[in-house]
Amino acid sequence: GRAQIGVTGLAVMGSNLARNLARHGHTVALHNRHADKTDRLIAEHGDEGDFVRTESIEEFVAALQKPRRALIMVKAGQPTDQVIEQLAAAMEPGDIIIDGGNALFTDTIRREHALRERGLHFVGAGVSGGEVGALEGPSIMPGGSVESYKSLGPLLESIAAQVDGTPCCTHIGPDGSGHFVKMVHNGIEYSDMQLIGEAYDLMRRVLGFDAGRIAEVFRDWNGTELESYLVEITAEVLDKSDPQTGGPLVDVIVDAAEQKGTGRWTVKAALDLGVPVTGIAEAVFARALSGARTQRAATKGLAGGTLPTVAEALGGHSETEFIEDIRRALYASKVIAYAQGFDEIKAGSDEHGWGVKPVDLATIWRGGCIIRARFLDRIREAYTSNPELPSLVLDPFFRSAIEEGLDSWRRVVAAAVRLGVPTPGFSSSLAYYDGLRAERLPAALTQGQRDYFGAHTYERVDAPEGKKFHILWSEGGAEIEA
Ligand code: 6PG
Repeated sequence: GRAQIGVTGLAVMGSNLARNLARHGHTVALHNRHADKTDRLIAEHGDEGDFVRTESIEEFVAALQKPRRALIMVKAGQPTDQVIEQLAAAMEPGDIIIDGGNALFTDTIRREHALRERGLHFVGAGVSGGEVGALEGPSIMPGGSVESYKSLGPLLESIAAQVDGTPCCTHIGPDGSGHFVKMVHNGIEYSDMQLIGEAYDLMRRVLGFDAGRIAEVFRDWNGTELESYLVEITAEVLDKSDPQTGGPLVDVIVDAAEQKGTGRWTVKAALDLGVPVTGIAEAVFARALSGARTQRAATKGLAGGTLPTVAEALGGHSETEFIEDIRRALYASKVIAYAQGFDEIKAGSDEHGWGVKPVDLATIWRGGCIIRARFLDRIREAYTSNPELPSLVLDPFFRSAIEEGLDSWRRVVAAAVRLGVPTPGFSSSLAYYDGLRAERLPAALTQGQRDYFGAHTYERVDAPEGKKFHILWSEGGAEIEA
């Protein structure tokens, strides 16, 4: 075969990645279950580079240079397993199968192990950046063997987004690590979107701004440390008028957020790892609440209590001051979202022995992906100067960034609570921060209760760590060593 790489599954993401590869001078074999999609791609974009049209999987595999590199871009789950099986049957030891979809990392671990037994490399690669990113430069998070990356890495790096000459693609670690970090990327994406939504809602409901005016605020914010893809597109979405009514588009969109699963997976995995990703969890649950349409329709008119006036809730602060407060609350909460996401990546990496380097993610998320943001440069610096940073909030830069925003953050949460505007992202992130910095937590009481009803024991502040004690609650109340 003469193609350096092949793409099977030519829906939008697959087509755009194939075109991106061809545009970078690679010969790309094309395959789709129904050849009409292959033909359409060649008819519409065949002049962008060198494509090899194939119909059967066998023909597709035969079109590839050895070691063969085949990128699968089909639906996660069963369809992916089917294509993997067909490819594996036609391939030879040393060949590489890449799954560029949003696969669940445990599926990727299973597939990688099974294919390794057969002498094949399996690369679970997270790809972020949506349709435009796929075509013009995504952020790519490939897992799998070091050997596979030697052969595949240069190809992927050539089509990835570039920031300051550095490609937004690097080898993440073994088996499921690439899809794991992509999953957490999406969890952070959910969190960031929820926080932006809360900022919007506060301006809307507390200040009474219309969509256009809020778009202006977000455009301004995009000139500050909040500069990011999501803030930028927020302004564009808010500015868009409805082609049918002429009013703001956002006002005619049903307020029930959907989700395909990666945010939920992030939270499930975090629960298993015991990592408090509270902001991400609130974002997933906020989507669930918004989607509970029957329940919401039935609860219209539920009381909100005695609410202060807006002026009272703002405590003498002006509209402009409140907007600046929201901006700072958004920034601080966003730092927490990333801090929690990086914590989960560290925990996942430790659990699976992946050796994922946080600095790599900060580097490759600076461009191409949905959560790309100016402050990732700062996260990169933080993990460069201290790869073992226990939490992002302890990095000197972020520490003072949060400290500077703290009063604003508290004012925003307080005003929202008093006015009955839900801000689960802002509030839970603040509670997380306060919990993290608390000298004593009520968990001491929890331990006492557990010892009372279940003899679950407790540790003492004045005894060595690991030493367990128990009170003979119903037998005189003396303390014993457990
Ligand atoms: C990306 C996006 C991408 C996709 C999400 C949307 O990084 O390019 O995250 O993967 O848009 O799957 O997820 P939901 O449908 O769950 O919001």
